[in-house]
Amino acid sequence: MPSALVTGGAGFIGSHVAELFLARGYTVEILDNLSSGKREHVDSRARLHEMDVRSAEAARLVTQTPFDVIVHLAAQIDVRKSVADPAADASINVGGTLNLIEALRQSARGTQTRFVFSSTGGALYGDFVDPPNVENYSKDPESPYGIAKLSAEYYLAYYARVHGMDTAVVRYANVYGPRQDPHGEAGVVAIFWCTATGHRRATMCSWATSPRQPCSPARIHFRVPNVSMRAHSTSAPASRRASPSSRGS
Ligand SMILES: NC(=O)c1ccc[n+]([C@@H]2O[C@H](COP(=O)([O-])OP(=O)(O)OC[C@H]3O[C@@H](n4cnc5c(N)ncnc54)[C@H](O)[C@@H]3O)[C@@H](O)[C@H]2O)c1
Repeated sequence: MPSALVTGGAGFIGSHVAELFLARGYTVEILDNLSSGKREHVDSRARLHEMDVRSAEAARLVTQTPFDVIVHLAAQIDVRKSVADPAADASINVGGTLNLIEALRQSARGTQTRFVFSSTGGALYGDFVDPPNVENYSKDPESPYGIAKLSAEYYLAYYARVHGMDTAVVRYANVYGPRQDPHGEAGVVAIFWCTATGHRRATMCSWATSPRQPCSPARIHFRVPNVSMRAHSTSAPASRRASPSSRGS
């Protein structure tokens, strides 16, 4: 039976990824420190290892277990926290990733296990490119979170090139769905939905898409079943750079 390790598997996206592997007949192990993930998100058929991605235990798990695939989603996901403490963000998002991939390299299955990294589409391209952001846009991360995700991508490219490892990167945009935390910093759909269904007013801060295009105040209407609400966008000086915290993860 094929086996998968899902880091961050007690979180929003990771718990769905774990269920998909289970549905396809994989044995699934989950590595999560439950800092934001929840035990109840872990399917009873999966085995939970409550540990930190940066730990020696996590490295040992990767070294000693012959996983066919490792999907690495465990991360510090809050752009604002990365701005407040870049070193702590990098420690998890770069250091944790390196801990796992280096453990895999040193294991007997170094080149046989596929390692899939969850990067970001929302924080890599900078704020002044015309959407939709396509993969070959030049990268211009404006937050420590985006810088760390891009650094991890480069490390994985290095491990593939130099050590022949099977690495892949997925750049999510704004993912939404069941089990998402609507009180988080990112996840615009969940935040708007929660605000709308709670009959509260949402404030949306919108900057110009180009430094040369000033943004005029706008009013945006949301309609959800039985509820309508309005959000206001505010204008900002044309030269002002968007706050990293305004970007999705
Ligand atoms: N949700 C989105 O729209 C979105 C967009 C772009 C990228 N991503 C990326 O997708 C991945 C999953 O995001 P999510 O939205 O499911 O977030 P989430 O917070 O629900 O899941 C992250 C999981 O990682 C765990 N975790 C955090 N730090 C850890 C550590 N040091 N050691 C072990 N476990 C740790 C948390 O407990 C949580 O279960 C992240 O890498 C995130 O950067 C998400």
